[in-house]
Amino acid sequence: MFQNSLDIHEVRELRLKTLVYFGCGAIRKIEDVAAQLEARGIRNMLVITGRGAYKSTGAWNHVVPALERHGIRHVLYDKVTPNPTTAQIDEAAALARTIDAKAVLCIGGGSPTDAGKSVAVLLENPTYTAADLYEYKFTPDKAVPVIAINLTHGTGTEVDRVAVATILEKEYKPAIAYDCIYPTWAIDDPALMTGLSEKQTRFVSIDAVNHSVEAVTSVIASPLSVTLGREAIALVAQFLPSALKNPGDLTARYYLLYASMLAGSAFDNGMLHYTHALEHPLSAVKPDLTHGLGLSMLLPAVVKHIYPVRATVLADVLSPLVPGLKGDPAEAETAAKGVEKWLAGVGAPEKLSDEGFSSADIDKLTKLAFTTPSLGFLLSLAPNKADTEAVRRIYSDSMTPLNA
Ligand SMILES: [Fe+2]
Repeated sequence: MFQNSLDIHEVRELRLKTLVYFGCGAIRKIEDVAAQLEARGIRNMLVITGRGAYKSTGAWNHVVPALERHGIRHVLYDKVTPNPTTAQIDEAAALARTIDAKAVLCIGGGSPTDAGKSVAVLLENPTYTAADLYEYKFTPDKAVPVIAINLTHGTGTEVDRVAVATILEKEYKPAIAYDCIYPTWAIDDPALMTGLSEKQTRFVSIDAVNHSVEAVTSVIASPLSVTLGREAIALVAQFLPSALKNPGDLTARYYLLYASMLAGSAFDNGMLHYTHALEHPLSAVKPDLTHGLGLSMLLPAVVKHIYPVRATVLADVLSPLVPGLKGDPAEAETAAKGVEKWLAGVGAPEKLSDEGFSSADIDKLTKLAFTTPSLGFLLSLAPNKADTEAVRRIYSDSMTPLNA
């Protein structure tokens, strides 16, 4: 396999819409990024991150001296939580304005990066709030430059134009997608990820698998989204078990990170549909729910529901998880049960009933899937008709194991 022939300690420049410094030791490239910011005349920036990983990973020890060397002043907002809220984004934007920040450096997984992308929009659109942004009160075409130092191998947000935030009071968790929020630079350094817990490792990679499954089956799927998504799933299947067994396995982290980047790019092209549109109501109602766990509980039922209309491509891209599929629409149940078995095998056997959901919640969740801004759009990209009946059936089929 080609993976053995590459040196994971060589930092490479991967050019998507974002310039990605990729490889073990890529964090040192923050020096180059700071130099480029200085050359652009940027003197003040917001650094946005979660509560501790920016320090515990060692990233911070590289960032501060690089900014200092290039004369870039910063303010630090380190209060972003999982499932970040619009209130946090407004608070961070207010802090950024105290020094007239002209760029946003995000350090973390999806949550700090998505929050940072949102702040970058607000800094160029100062009359609006984060809730305005996520309720589509305006369409931004400008944001200050975003830099993403990625600390997880799941979201792919470091290379895409998507961000997600929760409007707590409305139990909405919408997504936005605008060209102006592609990070200008991203740092993907697997060596910063060896401290991810077993649970984080599992669920960020399951997130990447879901991005791929949706991106290859949506109504706008393309050869590019299929190529990217298929490779991402194959890499997760190959390397997730190693990373779970040995968190310090840098080769496994490298290829899981590469998989998440590919999957992010896959859905930047092919977009998402059922699994994400149905997961966002789960984590909007229960903000402590891990995104990847929510997706994992839904995925088998989604596969069962879409397989009949996307059998050929699913048999192909799912083959590393469920060998032997032929692409026959009648295999839907086999494919779904096979995916559920694979998920259980990597330590994710949970279903909605295990996380406190019951059939009494289905009305509310279904309503949120259609009323939350943006989720109706995702549902419109599903490969078959995503009406309330379809959504209810997926929630209902996700309550308990299909393999029971
Ligand atoms: Fe996701």
